[in-house]
Amino acid sequence: MRILLPMPGNEALAADLARLGGHRLGRIETRRFPDGESYLRLLDDVAGLDVELVASLARPDADFLALIFAADAARDLGAASVGLIAPYLAYMRQDIRFKSGEAISSRSFARLLSSSFDRLLTIDPHLHRYPALDALYTMPAQALQAAPLLADWIAAEVTAPLLVGPDAESEQWVAAVAARAGAPHMVLQKVRHGDRNVAITMPDLSAWRGHQPVLVDDIASSGRTLIEAAQLLTGQGLPRPVCAVVHALFAEDAYAQLQAAASRIVSCDTVQHPSNAIPVASLLAAALR
Ligand code: R5P
Repeated sequence: MRILLPMPGNEALAADLARLGGHRLGRIETRRFPDGESYLRLLDDVAGLDVELVASLARPDADFLALIFAADAARDLGAASVGLIAPYLAYMRQDIRFKSGEAISSRSFARLLSSSFDRLLTIDPHLHRYPALDALYTMPAQALQAAPLLADWIAAEVTAPLLVGPDAESEQWVAAVAARAGAPHMVLQKVRHGDRNVAITMPDLSAWRGHQPVLVDDIASSGRTLIEAAQLLTGQGLPRPVCAVVHALFAEDAYAQLQAAASRIVSCDTVQHPSNAIPVASLLAAALR
C-alpha cells in the first residue's frame, strides 16, 4: 500500500497523483520554532506502507532539512520504504569544478538524498556532463521526460511553429519535441560568461519569417538565456517568441523581463509558477503505476 505525503507547497500535485493512481494521501505538519529550526510531524500512520514524499526542489536550501526530517521520521515510524517524488530536482548544474576549490554540489546533493531515500522519481533533470542519474545517485532513480507534453501543447496551441533551442546541449531534446510536434527546429549557440550573463549567436533566419518561433528550454532560472534569444529573434524581424519551459524557476524579476520580450510564456507545473500551463501529474502517475 502506498501513501503520498506532500511537503508544504506540493499538496495540489500530491492530491492529483493520489487521485490518478488510487493511492492514499497523507499530511505533514510543519512549522518553525521561534529560533528558526524546523518542527515536523507526520499526521498519518505510515507503519508498513510505501511512503512517497512529494517535494519539488525549487528552493532546496530552504526546504532540504525538513525533507530529510520527514524521510527519517517515516522510516523511524515503520514505513516499508521511503521514496522521493521531486518533479524538479535541484543542484544538477554545478556538475564539475569550473574553478579550483569549487564544491561539486550536484555530487554532494545526490549523496545526501541517496542516504535518506530508497528511490527517486523526477522529470527532466539537467543531465549535461553526467550521462544518467545513476552516475550521481546511488539509489534507484528514474528520470521522466516532459518533451511529449511540451510537444503536444505546441502542436495544439501554436500555428506554424519553428522550435528554437537556445544552446547546443538542447539539440537532442529540442529535436525530440519538434519531431513529435511535426515542426521544424534549429538550435542557437550560447556561451555563458556568468550567472546572469550569456552571449547567444543566431544564424540568418530570414527564411523563417512566416513561422512563429517557440523557444524551448528545460530550465528558466535567471531568464537571461530566453531573454537574449527572444531579443535576437525579434531583431531579425520574426514575431516575439512563445517560450515553453519545463521548470519555471524564474529568479527575481526574470519573469517580468521575459514577458516584455515574449508573446507568451508557458511551463510545466513541476515548479509552481503563474506560467504553469502543462500539467505533469499524469506523467508521474503513469510512472508510479
Ligand atoms: C542550461 O544549459 C539550461 O539548459 C538552461 O538554458 C539554463 O539553465 C537557463 O538558465 P538562465 O535562465 O539562468 O539563463
